[in-house]
Amino acid sequence: MKRILILTGGGDCPGLNAVIRGIAKRARKEKDWEVHGSIEAFNGVLNERQEIIKLTSKRTAGIHVKGGTILKTTNKSNPIKFPVTQPDGSVKFIDRSDELVSKLKKLNFDAVINIGGDGSQKISKVLFDKGIPVIGVPKTIDNDLSATDMTFGFQTAVQIATDSFDKLVTTAESHHRVMIMEVMGRETGWIALHTAIAGGAEICLIPEIPYDVDKLVKRLELRYKKGRGFANIVIAEGARPKAGSVTASAGEKGSEHVRLGGVAYQLSKQLKEAGCKAEIRETVLGHVQRGGTPIAFDRVLASMFGVKAVELALEKKFGTMVALKNNTITSVSLEDATRESNTVKKNSYMVKAAKGLGISFGD
Ligand code: F6P
Repeated sequence: MKRILILTGGGDCPGLNAVIRGIAKRARKEKDWEVHGSIEAFNGVLNERQEIIKLTSKRTAGIHVKGGTILKTTNKSNPIKFPVTQPDGSVKFIDRSDELVSKLKKLNFDAVINIGGDGSQKISKVLFDKGIPVIGVPKTIDNDLSATDMTFGFQTAVQIATDSFDKLVTTAESHHRVMIMEVMGRETGWIALHTAIAGGAEICLIPEIPYDVDKLVKRLELRYKKGRGFANIVIAEGARPKAGSVTASAGEKGSEHVRLGGVAYQLSKQLKEAGCKAEIRETVLGHVQRGGTPIAFDRVLASMFGVKAVELALEKKFGTMVALKNNTITSVSLEDATRESNTVKKNSYMVKAAKGLGISFGD
């Protein structure tokens, strides 16, 4: 019998269960393959009491419509930078990759499918270089992986953000207010940009294009003067002004990443200080963008990624990551997959189109 191990690491994302089901269904077609899952990413392998479950058809039936991941996840079990709490309460990061590799080798899986974002795929590369037969599957709502044209989960996040934006438009209009809606995306503005175009925002602020607060105030004044007594702004959590810095980021114990969130409140303060007379309200959408059932597009993409990952395992094409390129499901090397992140380009057609629709980036 040949055995596949699946892991879901990093932040969860709509479509993870559809990938798991896709892998399980495709592998079951090979009579001599079975699929297992590690609970809570690498913790299921690293912990003294290992937690690895067999993914029977009963466990995976119908899960493609469910949000989250049946295998659970964590962003605090990076084996290369594993957080260990010290006696004084501080956290030290240690490298446990050799321990993980030795445990994985003992478990002797024929293929390890690591579903995760850029951080997880960097781990995939380290494991592959140390002799583990790894295949990566890209996931993130941020859409910030350059090796694939799109990640699953992103379109669901955009849909959730757009639905929320539409609701804020009607209340903005009733109260003649400026509504600021903050969306996720880390260092990229993809969710914000798509939502701004889909929803018809007046202003879209993204990390790739630092904004000038005075320009935003002038823009809002003009809109109110024209008789449109309300405005809707979308701001990405990583956006920052040209002058000054963002202070809403906070570190979290045990996490190697800075936790973002709260720039909507800073923008509100900046606008008031720069003379904006209108009443302003802020909404930070947060994790609602990652929850719930994936839209059809993401179910399809995730299912195709799952099937492709098994095909790569059958062909022994380890050290690769599944990708969507020019409408085809293909694969790229883990090296290429982790080289650079996918950011919004200032001169891209999408930004040009947004500007053509009258959306201001405050630049
Ligand atoms: O990377 C996905 C993401 O949702 C980002 O958009 C966001 O900044 C981050 O994860 C939030 O992480 P956490 O779940 O740890 O709060």
